[in-house]
This record gives sequence, C-alpha cells and structure tokens, in this order.
Amino acid sequence: MAPALSMDSINSWDVISFAVDKGHGVKGLAELGLETLPKQYIQPIEEQITYSTVVNDDSIPVIDLSNWNDPKVAEQICNAAEKWGFFQIVNHGIPIEILENVKEATRGFFQLPAEEKNKHSKDHSPSNNVRYGTSFTPKAEKALEWKDFLSLFYVSDDEAAALWPSACRNEALDFMKSSKLVIRRLLEALMKGLNVKEIDETKESLLMGSKRINMNYYPKCPEPELTVGVGRHSDVSTLTILLQDDIGGLYVKKLDRDAWVHVPPIDGAIVINVGDALQILSNGRYKSIEHRVIANGRRNRISVPIFVNPRPNDIIGPLPEVIERGEKPIYKQVLYSDYVKHFFRKAHDGKETVDFAKI
Ligand code: OGA
Ligand code: NI
Repeated sequence: MAPALSMDSINSWDVISFAVDKGHGVKGLAELGLETLPKQYIQPIEEQITYSTVVNDDSIPVIDLSNWNDPKVAEQICNAAEKWGFFQIVNHGIPIEILENVKEATRGFFQLPAEEKNKHSKDHSPSNNVRYGTSFTPKAEKALEWKDFLSLFYVSDDEAAALWPSACRNEALDFMKSSKLVIRRLLEALMKGLNVKEIDETKESLLMGSKRINMNYYPKCPEPELTVGVGRHSDVSTLTILLQDDIGGLYVKKLDRDAWVHVPPIDGAIVINVGDALQILSNGRYKSIEHRVIANGRRNRISVPIFVNPRPNDIIGPLPEVIERGEKPIYKQVLYSDYVKHFFRKAHDGKETVDFAKI
C-alpha cells in the first residue's frame, strides 16, 4: 500500500483532478491510504449522519413472495408502498446464482485500472447510455459523495454487447432479465390497489418502459462520519430493485418524521422502493421515500440497483383511474425526460425533485 499522505499534501494536491477527471474515483483515493478525509468530501454538518435520528425499534417490511396468489401478499405490497415506500422481498424467484454473479462482476469492474474504467466516463464514453463516474454530479455539488458508479441505460442486447464493459455486461443483463417477472407482478399488485385492472401497452410504457442498472462501489473511508456514501434523495424511477451485499449502511426515512431506519442486509433478499414516477402516477398514494447511505470506515461495500422507469418521452401525471374516483390531482403532467434532467442538474437534496411536478 502507498504511504499515508499528510493533510497538507492532500489539500494542496488536486483531489478533483485525480478522482473525477483522471477516473481514479474514491476507490483510488482510498487506496492511497489517506488518514484524513479530503476537504472536498466533508459534508455540511446537517448532512452528516448522526445516530441521534436513527431508530432501532422499527424496520421496513419483509414480504415473502412464495405465495403470489394469496391476496394477502398483494395487500402487504400495497400497504408497504403506502406506509414505508420501501420493503424487502424474499422467495422472489430470482436465482441466487444470478445475484452472486452480478455482485462479483461489480467488484470485478471496479478492480480494473482507472484508465480502463475511465474509457466509460462522461468525457470518453462513446454513448450517453454508458457512464462511469464518481460521487453523483460533481460539477453541481458543494461537497462530494464517497461513491463510484457505473450506470448502464438499457436499449437492446445488441447495444449492450457493443457498449457495456465486458467485465460485467452479461451478469448485469442476466440480473435485469431474471428480475422482469417479479417487477411485473409487483407492479400488477400495486396497480390493482389503485383500481387499475390491467397493464395495457400505455401503462406498460409508463410503468416499466425503460430500465437503468447501476453498479455502486463505496470504498472504505477515512473519517466516514464526516461524509456520506449517497446523500439524501428519492429515486426518480417507478420502482427500484436493489441488490446489496452483506455490509449494510442504507438508511430510509420514516414517513413524515425525521427518523431513519437501517435496511439490514438479508441473504438472498432484494430491496424494493417506490420512486418519484410512481408517487406521481398514484397521485401521492405510494410514497417515494428519502434514503441515504453512510460511508464505512472498515469495509468496501457494493450495491446494484435496477431503476425501472417510464420511457423518456412519456408524459407522467396522476393516472386517470385514480382521478376518476374524485381525488384532486396534486401533480401536473410532465415530460419524464424533463423530470430526470431536473434531478441530475442539482446535487442530492432530499425530496425537492418532486416539487417540479407539483401543481
Ligand atoms: C441509489 C441508492 C442505495 C444503496 O443508487 O439510488 O439509493 O444502498 N443506492 O446503494
Ligand atoms: Ni436511491
């Protein structure tokens, strides 16, 4: 390991150029053996995660899907989406081997030399659909997040074969494909709860018309309490399907309270959360909840979310079936790609993105 650098040498040296521009990421910083956190990563005090707001006596529901046809299962899914916006599923039918393989492939991708990963950065990637990066949106952030990522927008198998990094392409595609059925069933249950009887072609596009898979790498961090892995945000998806390893660190905000609960890793389970698009389509019935990830001082962590989204050209707004029952719409119709652009133009800022669609 490289010798530890002193604070003075870190602060006079161009951290941003090293981590962001040259593609070393926070993984590169971590491997320098820093003893202190570079100042660019120090979050304002109100964003640092303090244990005083963490509650241990409550947790998000864990739903067993082995009995799909039992109406109680659909009820549990709708309840969890209304009260928590987050739940875990077990016995979901996605083979454990596919989950293990995609975790291993994620580690494999981040182990590649920086020059190799950086071929997929914003400045070098031949396509916007493939993006390696660090933090969230470094140019718009006052303080950076302790995370590297690879983000892959799915268009077709052919495009994936041509553009996605070979270190993780097949494993990412396998995970996406094998999660299709469970995603459809979850959405069917959630739609029934809104009085939507059938997912026709239009609804299929709105609910699951496009997909993005991210591979997140959170290296071991010096002074983890001063920074975050991911800052407070809600996802812009309809649903997010998240695979995490056994390290932990994801925290979810309780509905309308300043209290956070940990999402404990459960072997073989998948975390599901409602995103802003589904909150808007359901006119606020299903909740897209704020969540964040702490940095870890002892171990590297990975996670692999699949964001199930509307198509970029879809117009999203409260579904007619919801409004027909006499509810007053609280969101207007917005072009989904405008919504997503708004999200990526700013740093993570909790639940503020959804104001963009408020009437
Ligand atoms: C995200 C996210 C959580 C995690 O990528 O949007 O919230 O546990 N990730 O990595
Ligand atoms: Ni998220």
